[in-house]
Amino acid sequence: MLSDKTRSFLALEEQYGAHNYHPLPVVLEKGEGVFLFDVEGKKYFDFLSGYSAVNQGHCHPRIVAALTEQAKKLTLTSRAFHNNLLGEYGQFITRYFGYDKVLPMNTGVEGGETAIKLARRWAYTQKGIAENQARIVFAEGNFWGRTLAAISSSTDPSSYEGFGPFMPGFDLVPYNDTAALEKALSDKNTAAFMVEPIQGEAGVVVPDEGYLRTVRELCTRYQVLFIADEIQTGLARTGKMLACDHEQVRPDILILGKALSGGLLPVSAVLADDAVMLNIKPGEHGSTYGGNPLACAVAMAALTVLKEEHMAANAAVLGEVFRKELASIGSPHIETIRGKGLLNAIIIRHPKEDAAMDICMELMQNGLLAKPTHGDKIRFAPPLVINREQLLESVAIISRSLRILD
Ligand SMILES: Cc1ncc(COP(=O)(O)O)c(C=O)c1O
Repeated sequence: MLSDKTRSFLALEEQYGAHNYHPLPVVLEKGEGVFLFDVEGKKYFDFLSGYSAVNQGHCHPRIVAALTEQAKKLTLTSRAFHNNLLGEYGQFITRYFGYDKVLPMNTGVEGGETAIKLARRWAYTQKGIAENQARIVFAEGNFWGRTLAAISSSTDPSSYEGFGPFMPGFDLVPYNDTAALEKALSDKNTAAFMVEPIQGEAGVVVPDEGYLRTVRELCTRYQVLFIADEIQTGLARTGKMLACDHEQVRPDILILGKALSGGLLPVSAVLADDAVMLNIKPGEHGSTYGGNPLACAVAMAALTVLKEEHMAANAAVLGEVFRKELASIGSPHIETIRGKGLLNAIIIRHPKEDAAMDICMELMQNGLLAKPTHGDKIRFAPPLVINREQLLESVAIISRSLRILD
């Protein structure tokens, strides 16, 4: 079914690139809003949005304009010198989310690493934990990237197997289990609990209503920092600016990434108040690209369009429509539909082991791109600029594609 042209791109990647991904056999060359176009000119609905990095839609004109304008002036100085946008960006993003300070990084996983370093340092200087004894608690099923620290907290063998030895000082509790969490947090050496408000890579696992409120209460009670990894859930994806906003909780450390640049370049940020942030002194943490003026300009534009174009509200409304319409298909092959806003997943019920992959291949044929996560789950997360008509068209494609399992 694949054209010679497509095959030639696949072969080139296969020969010269490391084999650390298993993509769908589609070669994309253009993106616009909710759509992607392959090298044959075929158009697709994008239902992955670069793992939620492209919340604002592909090549959003205002973000692209900010990028190109700034790229002509100044792109990188390093933090050896000041640049004229870092202060402005710092003021903009801290006011936007209500924190004292920001620490700018690049990829999401660097944001996670930064948050953990901040928590450990705070534990030693503020909580009084003895040197090298600080513990960080994570939830089973977490995903926060691919560095050695990130895989050291992972419960997914495909992430960690064969990459040991691992980072010490990490503990795990079941997700959505506040009794187990309380036990872990009551340990006097616990510095922080780092958690996704909804577990994205695990297959859009939504905790019980009230979970985040209890996390907040327990962290406060035991003097433990609440670190929210909102890299996938944040920035309007779940129908609020932050997923924590659904329960009106404020984490002590907030990690953002992905859509902070609208998919244009890697931009992440760690936000905290002075009591946490000022424990790291000059020379103790950083990154060559972190806080570069190009990233500052792009991030301000990306955050501005999220608000001005009411993307959280659109995600909230269309998320409800999406789940309702999916349910109304009445497909025997859908076991579960879950999610919040436009971060959703279905679990496939079928004896065939790679049934979810078969559906994704069929979706691709029918003009919609989505990828299975953890075997039998398919995540549906379109750009937040999708409109009702496009959403209903997408549901029709999903409905039609599910029939290949009949
Ligand atoms: C919740 C969460 N945290 C962190 C990351 C890591 O981000 P990056 O791939 O930019 O390092 C991801 C990536 O999927 C994620 O979903």
